Amino acid sequence: MVHIPVLQKEVLQYLEPKPNENFIDCTIGKGGHALAILEKNGPNGKVLGIDQDQEIIQCLKTRAAAKGEEERLILVCDNFANLEEIVKKQNFKKISGILFDLGMSSWHLEESGRGFSFLRNEPLDMRYDLRNPLTAEKIINFWSEPDIEKILKEFGEENFSEKIAKTIIKERKFGSIKTTFQLVRIIKKAVPLRYQEQRLHCATRTFQAIRIAVNEELENLRKVLPQAVEILPAEGKLIVISFHSLEDRIVKNFFREKARENILKIITKKPVSPDLKEIKINTRSRSGKLRTAVKICLK
Ligand SMILES: C[S@@+](CC[C@H](N)C(=O)[O-])C[C@H]1O[C@@H](n2cnc3c(N)ncnc32)[C@H](O)[C@@H]1O
Repeated sequence: MVHIPVLQKEVLQYLEPKPNENFIDCTIGKGGHALAILEKNGPNGKVLGIDQDQEIIQCLKTRAAAKGEEERLILVCDNFANLEEIVKKQNFKKISGILFDLGMSSWHLEESGRGFSFLRNEPLDMRYDLRNPLTAEKIINFWSEPDIEKILKEFGEENFSEKIAKTIIKERKFGSIKTTFQLVRIIKKAVPLRYQEQRLHCATRTFQAIRIAVNEELENLRKVLPQAVEILPAEGKLIVISFHSLEDRIVKNFFREKARENILKIITKKPVSPDLKEIKINTRSRSGKLRTAVKICLK
């Protein structure tokens, strides 16, 4: 399955890549946004692409080589929480903009085989970075009931967090819970029938919560935003696309705080969402929210 970049037109509109400008794509994934930037910032403009998923980076290296873009596309397999260190190590300078397109890619959901989707029967893994010692299976089989309930409530905003956590603890006494379908069955046992009949699949919130916990997604976002502002020069652009309210709240509050401090100028007073045409082509884009700000030039 091809990953269709979310809000691509808007990303290019706000980043405005020009010849010879440099950009950082902190979540390069399959390179949808980065390759579009590279089409605009030639002949000498570069993109520093970061992703913590080894498989993704390997695949993109091959793709970049086939396109003859390995000089202009610098790929680093690391957590964007280490952004300042990565930029320093790569000696990457004159940065015109930084992009974040948060969360997982369609590849993770459809092809990685790591249990991101409740519609596929796969091992409960959910890691972007396979060096991460924490997996979804460990959370489900070894964490305490209060800890599981806490992440379901906080990271999934799941109303039935208490019931689901209780049922997980009960069911794991009969043997390890190893697959996504086992977990879906347990969630269905825990929640009322009316919840199972809603449009949103009853496992959506639990899966989101576990994925966020495994990959420390909110923690990493909180760590990286100040670093991104720090390394941006005056007039440098910062774009963040988020996919759920927890991420969007962090970005919104951070932008507001930096605007109050006269460090950022917020460009999108309200987040930009995909139009109906984009949602029709790519349903995954429907929850995307783009916020952008520019570093203020202090003269
Ligand atoms: C939505 S996808 C990006 C898709 C990409 N913009 C495209 O158009 O192909 C998000 C990517 O960010 C990566 N990612 C998530 N959290 C990360 C982190 N803390 N550090 C580095 N990469 C991360 C995931 O592995 C995933 O490949």
